[in-house]
Amino acid sequence: MMPPTLYLSRLLPEPVMAIVRERFQLVQEPLDTLPSPAALREGLCQADAAIVTLGDRIDATTIHAATRLKILANYAVGYNNIDLAAAQARGLTVTNTPDVLTDATADLTWALLLATARRIVEGDALVRSGQWTGWSPTQLLGAEVSGKVLGIIGLGRIGQAVAQRALGFRMTVLYHQRQPITAATSPQKWEYRSLHALLEESDIVTIHVPLTPATHHLIGARELSWMKPTAFLINTARGPIVDEGALVEALTKGTIAGAGLDVYEEEPALHQRLSPLPQVILLPHIGSATLQARVQMGLTCVTNIQAVLDGRPAPNQVPR
Ligand code: GLV
Ligand code: GLV
Repeated sequence: MMPPTLYLSRLLPEPVMAIVRERFQLVQEPLDTLPSPAALREGLCQADAAIVTLGDRIDATTIHAATRLKILANYAVGYNNIDLAAAQARGLTVTNTPDVLTDATADLTWALLLATARRIVEGDALVRSGQWTGWSPTQLLGAEVSGKVLGIIGLGRIGQAVAQRALGFRMTVLYHQRQPITAATSPQKWEYRSLHALLEESDIVTIHVPLTPATHHLIGARELSWMKPTAFLINTARGPIVDEGALVEALTKGTIAGAGLDVYEEEPALHQRLSPLPQVILLPHIGSATLQARVQMGLTCVTNIQAVLDGRPAPNQVPR
């Protein structure tokens, strides 16, 4: 029997490639670059199953054209790149990769948070430049993180993993999301706040909601004006949750003290007024970028594909 046909929109880490080559017939050899919309559609049309990434926009036209396709396994926890309504209408299963990237993303969030508060990138640049003249009582003074108030927008898997790490820093953890979590699921003392109160009270605000029509520009000029002038904003979720133009204004005017960003509104394009700002740290969307997480994400995609091709429910079907 011929193995099922798989379209891979991107080259995945080698341990994953070895497994997919063993189990599937590849539509074509994947490249390490984003396919054009036409190439993406053509690939999907020839496949029984596909692994796609967050840079691949899968619209209704593509979904209806890919008549043979049974499952789209998104190699990400977020799935705002896929028209879910169109997928549901045509009975196409969509899956994501939750859990396996939670620790990697929470760790990166903390790396970015600490780097932003403590001016790590400015310090590295100073030493490399050869301009460093030695220790100084007034050099590169940053903000203290320990004992401060951390505001988490979206206390899902990743938000909770970020909150757990805050315990070691003796922080007060506030959170906001549409539904406050119940005491049964929240043994820790994480305090619910309205978005307004969370933004007013927090020293550091970090975003962990998915991108949906309801969270698009959740943080705009008005919300930024509620933050303390000494506060920092961290975003490792999705760029369009923050109005980037309003953020640039707030940073330029000193409405807030700084920002750590791993994601952008028009990724990979950057708002032209962001890069000159020293109080901003800019990362290239590397939240889940550990070898361990990226291999597990691939294995999760394969498990979901195998289930659907065998006629079983996919363990990570979205939405749930
Ligand atoms: C990364 O951004 C993901 O959604 O997995
Ligand atoms: C968010 O992406 C979550 O999994 O909580």
